[in-house]
Amino acid sequence: MSNQSINANRLLGRIRELGEIGRDGDGRLVRLAASDSEKLGRDRFVAWVKDAGLDVAVDRIGNVFGIWRPEGTGDRPPLMLGSHIDTVVNAGMYDGCYGVLSGLEVVETMKAQGFVPSRPIAVAAFTNEEGVRYAPDMMGSLVYAGGLGVEDALATMGTDGTTLGEELERIGYAGPEEPGFLQPHAYIELHIEQGPVLERESILIGAVENLQGISWQRVTIDGDANHAGTTPMSMRRDAGHAAARVITFLHDRAIASNTPTVATVGCMSFEPNAINVIPSRAAFTVDLRDPDEDRLKAEEAELVAFLDRLAEEEQVSVSVERLARFEPVKFDAKIVGLIEKAAKDRGLTCRRMTSGAGHDAQMIARIAPSAMIFVPSVGGISHNPKEFTTDGDLVAGANVLLDVVRQFAREEE
Ligand code: GLV
Ligand code: MN
Ligand code: MN
Repeated sequence: MSNQSINANRLLGRIRELGEIGRDGDGRLVRLAASDSEKLGRDRFVAWVKDAGLDVAVDRIGNVFGIWRPEGTGDRPPLMLGSHIDTVVNAGMYDGCYGVLSGLEVVETMKAQGFVPSRPIAVAAFTNEEGVRYAPDMMGSLVYAGGLGVEDALATMGTDGTTLGEELERIGYAGPEEPGFLQPHAYIELHIEQGPVLERESILIGAVENLQGISWQRVTIDGDANHAGTTPMSMRRDAGHAAARVITFLHDRAIASNTPTVATVGCMSFEPNAINVIPSRAAFTVDLRDPDEDRLKAEEAELVAFLDRLAEEEQVSVSVERLARFEPVKFDAKIVGLIEKAAKDRGLTCRRMTSGAGHDAQMIARIAPSAMIFVPSVGGISHNPKEFTTDGDLVAGANVLLDVVRQFAREEE
């Protein structure tokens, strides 16, 4: 058991402080990417990074880095830690923030303990991980890893009609660095599980070995607006009803499949959206995920076939726009092993697992060996203000991160 640990009060205090930044008039945590409220969160993080004596760097897509370059580490590729501080609407306070603040905490702990790593350590807060305001999700890390051009990403139009590049300029986080300017030696992301597995099995640490594929699409169905009282059911081209059929199709199929496939329709709008008018248009999103790429492809194909049938049967027209598509990712076996060993050495129960959520690690894995550490989410709840992880579990996870980083930072190769 290691006798060196992170400063629990500092970490927990910061998680709570950041969790209060970006509350709306109803007390909901809404820190959407590149918004005014997210700027306040970024400013707070940057202030902590500076207080810790780290260099601050911001790249063109707004990713923020706190970089510790101890003497003698020169230009060696840094070990990178991090996650994101943007949130969904009415979010919990742990998703993303826990990983960013734990990364900073680990660095501050190492500095305070006089540990000198053999390479720099960078703590990243990636832009727009959530993808709520601008699609795709994990955008900052995707651009950083070269999977999306920076100009294309900056030109992305948000759900509120804004442009990401203009918003980053406006909030002062359109930085000068080229995304990818630091080639990580490895990337490790600590995160709450956001699902029920660890709690159900009374296990404290998840060594995340893979992450499922994600498919995001926007479907638009066009029918005819008409009078709700006078139009016989047989004479309708009801876009709303057609959309409802897609929801039940996806839901029933995922349940009947008895596989890990999950399907969600999370956004929907009708036009003209009036109580006594048959909807002429329904626009909605489809989030499909599966750890198996072939199965995910098959599910996408089944949806296409269903939409074709639907167009015929409901006499509507259907168009589909792809918003995001990420294949499943396998994390680095060596880092996963180090995580398991660190947990064991601290006497913490640990299991290997798959991430159901998307994470920046999924993108950075394209350019560097990467892996993730999970801690339990009470009730498996996330993307919800009820999201909760106990202080003890948060601290345990950060200590495992500390041990893994210490191990890595000693390597000379
Ligand atoms: C990110 O939070 C995602 O998995 O959608
Ligand atoms: Mn997250
Ligand atoms: Mn999230």
